[in-house]
Amino acid sequence: MLLGTQRITVRGYLEIGGRDAVSLAEEFGTPLYVFDEAAIRANCRAYTAAFAARYPSVAVEYAGKAFLCLAMARLIHEEGLHLDVASAGELYTALRAGFPPAELVFHGNNKSAAELRMALDADVGRIVVDSLYELDLLERLVAGRRRPQEVLVRVAPGVDPHTHRRIQTGQADTKFGLNLASGAAMEGVKRVLRTHGLLFTGVHAHVGSNLRDAEAHVQALEAVLDFAVRLREETGLAIEELNAGGGLGIRYLPHDRPLSIDAFAEALTSALHDGLARRRLPRPRLLVEPGRSIVGEAGTTLYTVGAIKDVPIAEPPGVRTYVAIDGGMSDNPRPQLYDAVYHAFLANKADQPAETIVRIAGKHCETDILIDSVTLQRPEPGDILAVPSTGAYTYSMASNYNRLSRPAAVFVRDGRARLVIRRETLDDLLRQDVLPDA
Ligand code: LLP
Repeated sequence: MLLGTQRITVRGYLEIGGRDAVSLAEEFGTPLYVFDEAAIRANCRAYTAAFAARYPSVAVEYAGKAFLCLAMARLIHEEGLHLDVASAGELYTALRAGFPPAELVFHGNNKSAAELRMALDADVGRIVVDSLYELDLLERLVAGRRRPQEVLVRVAPGVDPHTHRRIQTGQADTKFGLNLASGAAMEGVKRVLRTHGLLFTGVHAHVGSNLRDAEAHVQALEAVLDFAVRLREETGLAIEELNAGGGLGIRYLPHDRPLSIDAFAEALTSALHDGLARRRLPRPRLLVEPGRSIVGEAGTTLYTVGAIKDVPIAEPPGVRTYVAIDGGMSDNPRPQLYDAVYHAFLANKADQPAETIVRIAGKHCETDILIDSVTLQRPEPGDILAVPSTGAYTYSMASNYNRLSRPAAVFVRDGRARLVIRRETLDDLLRQDVLPDA
């Protein structure tokens, strides 16, 4: 499975962005997150083009939770996308990268007063209100401010997104947003309308992540448009902006066939055109918020193979080969959290036949299996293992479990590798420790 600019060199090495993986591992060490910069940019452009071709007024916001650092924020701005931030830390990263505040959208189901104040002070473009409690906070915080803050109201559309239960968000029984059926969503909008200092611009609905089709998005759109009709009846007001969230899945395994960005745009915009016409609603601006599908396939993690063990097993009778790598659940917790499955191959033997069935194990002090079963080229200690499609929700969810340092990240493009996140040093691990006086 070769993605983006990946290819195999004459020496049989995996190459990404014109740099071979073996030399990247030598230069930057492993584990290493390698980002194919051209592939990220191509995805940004594909989103912009796919929606612009089908709908008159669209903004694409990259969901920073998938992967964010200063260089990523800058790249996203260069590509003309807006940015979704969901904490003070993500907001701070965006601001320090020079991201235009007007193009920031601030999310979160439990934003603190301090976070909201920070967003208001920064003049972020939109705050997505997630609860009536948040409105209590905002009412106090906006009093006396000069510029009214534009807000969207997040609703729980009550649809089943058919994805791993930990990444479902669109169902009615959820911590996110304001319930449509209970009247909470209508109450939220009406309170925004009554609040001096808040400007209601529209509604947001995100149904879930890593979705294989656009069915749940379309159902959520229908629910939101029904809500728009009720809103028009009760207040005479139109929704100016409709944010359909993110959620498009990616190719993790060679046989995965996710919806293309084009097909996703087609499904969403045709449902929107139809739904608006049926209800005689004016056309809102459409916002979409992809994370995984911008950066997921563009990231490859490189590891160095260490211990290899052949272990006798009873069922089925035979031998299991454990291949241990120099990272694991601290740099990619997704297999542990979501039973996520990944493909892998040896980057220094990419031209050789894959014939050895192995289990890839991390180095943590528990059974952190990165890949339960994968067929590799014949593995030996010192080989470089490449795990593709690891750009999203890996670094952003990484930890220091067992006091491992979080890996470095590089952007590669046209034969050049640029460090964008330094590897943590052992001293970095002690930076926040305090030895109290005896
Ligand atoms: N917008 C909102 C409000 C979201 O909550 C999310 C993701 C997105 C956009 C972007 O969704 P995407 O296009 O990336 O699916 N850690 C999990 C994924 C959690 C997704 C959280 N929200 C994982 O590793 O699978």
